Amino acid sequence: MEALCAPPRAEPLFDTRFPVSKDRIPPDRKTMSDWIDVVPAAELATDDHRIVDIDDTAIAVFNIEGEFFAIEDLCTHDYGGLAGGCVENGQIICPRHGAHFDIRTGEALTPPAYEPVATFPVRIHEGMVQVRDDRDD
Ligand code: FES
Repeated sequence: MEALCAPPRAEPLFDTRFPVSKDRIPPDRKTMSDWIDVVPAAELATDDHRIVDIDDTAIAVFNIEGEFFAIEDLCTHDYGGLAGGCVENGQIICPRHGAHFDIRTGEALTPPAYEPVATFPVRIHEGMVQVRDDRDD
């Protein structure tokens, strides 16, 4: 299968100068530990992803060979967005400088990144892929 990726870009996808407003999140989704609907599971193809914002955190949810995983959409090297990078063999390649991360574990696999990206729990509920930010639980 051909890798899903975007052309290289010089600027981060996630611009921290303009954080996502909490006002964009519906009132019933503001609790950090709530499960957030992402996409119907049947609509997310292998190696594809969707991004959701939960309290100013961009989270990318991936389908890797029929299993779903979520990582923060923020490279630990220089804070560029990861989503849109090539996805190959369960790894995402940062589109800015080429660091590889394991989508299942968040582990940084190659320089110039050395720190893992945050991972988040994912579940399928009534056919819907859901994610939650459990870091403050
Ligand atoms: S910003 Fe990702 S490798 Fe540099």
